Amino acid sequence: MSRVAIIGAGPSGLAQLQAFAAARASGTDIPEVVCFEKQSDWGGLWNYTWRTGLDEQGDPVHGSMYRYLWSNGPKECLEFADYPFDEHFGKPIPSFPPRAVLYDYITGRAKRSDMRRHIRFNTAVRWVSFDESTDSFTVTLDSRDGAELHTEEFDYVIVATGHFSIPNVPDYPGFDTFPGRVLHSHDFRDASEFAGKDLLVMGSSYSAEDIALQSAKYGAKSVTISYRSTPMGFGWPDGISEVPGLVRMEGRVAHFTDGSTREVDSIILCTGYRHNFPFIADDLRLRTANVLCTPNLYKGVFWVPNPKLMYLAMQDQYYTFNMFDAQAWYARDFILGRVSVPSREEMRGDIDGWQARLEACNGPMEEIDYQADYVADLLKEVDYPAFDLDLTRDHFKTWEHHKEESITGYRDRSFTSPCTGSSAPLHHTPWWNEPDDSLATFLRTE
Ligand SMILES: Cc1cc2nc3c(=O)[nH]c(=O)nc-3n(C[C@H](O)[C@H](O)[C@H](O)COP(=O)(O)OP(=O)(O)OC[C@H]3O[C@@H](n4cnc5c(N)ncnc54)[C@H](O)[C@@H]3O)c2cc1C
Ligand SMILES: NC(=O)c1ccc[n+]([C@@H]2O[C@H](COP(=O)([O-])OP(=O)(O)OC[C@H]3O[C@@H](n4cnc5c(N)ncnc54)[C@H](OP(=O)(O)O)[C@@H]3O)[C@@H](O)[C@H]2O)c1
Repeated sequence: MSRVAIIGAGPSGLAQLQAFAAARASGTDIPEVVCFEKQSDWGGLWNYTWRTGLDEQGDPVHGSMYRYLWSNGPKECLEFADYPFDEHFGKPIPSFPPRAVLYDYITGRAKRSDMRRHIRFNTAVRWVSFDESTDSFTVTLDSRDGAELHTEEFDYVIVATGHFSIPNVPDYPGFDTFPGRVLHSHDFRDASEFAGKDLLVMGSSYSAEDIALQSAKYGAKSVTISYRSTPMGFGWPDGISEVPGLVRMEGRVAHFTDGSTREVDSIILCTGYRHNFPFIADDLRLRTANVLCTPNLYKGVFWVPNPKLMYLAMQDQYYTFNMFDAQAWYARDFILGRVSVPSREEMRGDIDGWQARLEACNGPMEEIDYQADYVADLLKEVDYPAFDLDLTRDHFKTWEHHKEESITGYRDRSFTSPCTGSSAPLHHTPWWNEPDDSLATFLRTE
């Protein structure tokens, strides 16, 4: 029997386990599947930790999520087609749940499929290499309890370790003498720490947007967002403003490229993350930025030089959980021999086609279509349960308009499920006025 290693039990690793569970449930013989998770529990980034820096074993903390994080896209756009929200919660729930609610949902499906028995927790993968002579991968495992490392052989390896955990940390003149705190969004945990403070937030993407809003919501005196390339341009609430790039800090004073200055107490670098695979041999290691079309991955999954190595969820993400499912079903079907990959040349040609199309994309609306078409391309060849992908594409575009209309109000909107057709009820309290992100408060009906 062949052996499959899945590295990581976050949403994408769990998607892979679910794909195999679905095949098993329909009577298919499946290979031995082992999932290695370095943390003591599942859920990946959604498994909140208060820790920053190093974890209890001295490894970098994986978690980048913070308290009071709510979904930044409609939940209907990430819904599992084989496990709708209505089924998990027993009723329709509002469209923008806080982290604890999505964690409950992700782990609910994993529990239903009894996935724990396939996962070795507290087990970090330290090295993956491929041996041409045996046609198999050697995976070096660390049970993180002081015991010696050991190796196991696998026929297939699926990397599902995420790519939003190792921060990209630029340096700017004057950071070394700045008298306040400089931190990356990876280490941001509780916005109320910055109540009463003047903050500088660097970056112009999702983390900058959400951390600026969070900080203002929980009492920051002012938030200045500094963009490198393009301002986000939303209608910010009082106290938040956008300025161009930072030139230098002089003491507490930030100097920007337009000549303006601001005095600030703390600096939060929302400057993105790096794909980081220190545990993968050089000839197998994906090297990419956070982009919608990843180099060297056929169908966004298969490592072109050796397709028995697969990567999940390595793209920038409009779509998340249902895209991970589509990738996982496809990877499973390759392993089961239900789909095949063409020659390396054809794989490269296919990637080039997607890359050319991406380069022609003009703005987020076209990028949404691009990633929706990518998901559709995977789904057409696998037996993932049907759902209305075109509706999710429309939802994303409507969501973009809602954000332009009101950056503090877009989470108060309601969407329709692409799986059950049910309409989400409105949340009992506008997001901007709701400090409580607990599951119990969110699910309360009034
Ligand atoms: C701040 C933040 C907010 C986000 N908010 C949203 C949102 O609102 N909605 C949304 O849909 N998406 C959101 N995302 C996107 C997020 O990428 C996905 O939702 C999802 O968590 C990706 O799942 P994953 O399994 O690929 O990676 P992860 O969730 O990162 O899980 C990877 C797992 O691999 C394990 N691992 C890593 N290395 C090893 C190793 N060497 N050995 C063993 N195990 C290992 C980790 O411990 C972890 O459990 C957010 C991301 C960030 C950073
Ligand atoms: N649920 C939520 O509300 C929530 C909250 C936060 C994050 N997220 C998720 O987390 C993921 C990561 O988002 P992200 O915003 O952290 O990363 P990101 O989307 O990769 O954006 C990185 C940002 O950093 C900027 N940057 C990079 N280097 C810089 C430098 N040297 N100086 C100044 N700016 C620099 C980039 O600017 P340029 O534009 O100039 O390249 C870009 O704006 C996304 O999937 C997002 O959906 C979700």
